[in-house]
Amino acid sequence: MRGSPRRGMDTTDVETVLVAGASGGTGRAVLGLLGSRVRTVRALTRSPGKRSSLRRAGADEVVIDDLLDPTDLDDTVDGVDVVVSTVGSEIGQALGSGPYVDGAGTQALLDAAVAAGVDAFVMESAIGVGEEPASPLATAFDLFIGPIQAAKAETEAALRSASIRHTILRPGVLTNGPRTDDVTVAEPGAKLYGTVSRADVARLLAAAPVTEAAADATFEVVGCPAFPDRAAAVDWQLPAPRGPNSVDLDVIDGAGD
Ligand SMILES: NC(=O)c1ccc[n+]([C@@H]2O[C@H](COP(=O)([O-])OP(=O)(O)OC[C@H]3O[C@@H](n4cnc5c(N)ncnc54)[C@H](OP(=O)(O)O)[C@@H]3O)[C@@H](O)[C@H]2O)c1
Repeated sequence: MRGSPRRGMDTTDVETVLVAGASGGTGRAVLGLLGSRVRTVRALTRSPGKRSSLRRAGADEVVIDDLLDPTDLDDTVDGVDVVVSTVGSEIGQALGSGPYVDGAGTQALLDAAVAAGVDAFVMESAIGVGEEPASPLATAFDLFIGPIQAAKAETEAALRSASIRHTILRPGVLTNGPRTDDVTVAEPGAKLYGTVSRADVARLLAAAPVTEAAADATFEVVGCPAFPDRAAAVDWQLPAPRGPNSVDLDVIDGAGD
């Protein structure tokens, strides 16, 4: 869906999605969700050895590149409607001096996406990133992985000022639990804390480009405990399943979000 209005993506408009960080926990969940919903899911990894497993996880195409030393990001984003970035540094890297894939790496991908006219860029960030009032959990994140959080903050800022529709999700502690669709999303500064499954975050990342209230928005997100008094009401919509006779069982009415 190239050249469409910034806020007007429809659930049938997303045809090609690039998932960066596709081999990671959240990335694989995004592949599984989008594999049956968009025509082409392109997975990015640094490791040629992961090609087969990424295809099994739902990727139609696999691109090999390192965002911190990219060879051909123009080709990587060519023909893409939506970029979903779930890349992240390993915790131990916070002890080093960078650069970080959360910072320079994701920004290189963003620059390529903007230059190519990609419609939407969705970023998985983390609670505590940014200047808003933070929960104790967010303060702990900042304490232990401060340089990585700072790199994410730089990328968030670059994304907000770029000429591309964007959504930033800042999850709490990620788990490998099941998808529940029972999450709380809230405006930055809501001071949410708690855990959330990668599968639940993946649903929001996949839904963001076709969800009106997620356009150019940043959300904190946790699963349990929920914070109904702080929650933003968002009617999350997933890209429509492929096939003329498909029934979309996953369109969520937003209750509990
Ligand atoms: N862990 C938590 O509790 C937590 C909480 C809040 C937010 N987050 C954030 O949520 C996001 C997803 O976390 P996750 O645990 O699901 O992911 P993950 O399993 O850590 O996977 C991250 C992926 O990033 C890719 N990557 C790393 N460096 C790269 C580079 N230079 N170029 C290209 N790709 C690179 C890796 O892919 P390849 O190895 O295949 O290249 C890896 O699969 C991250 O941004 C993380 O910081 C995590």
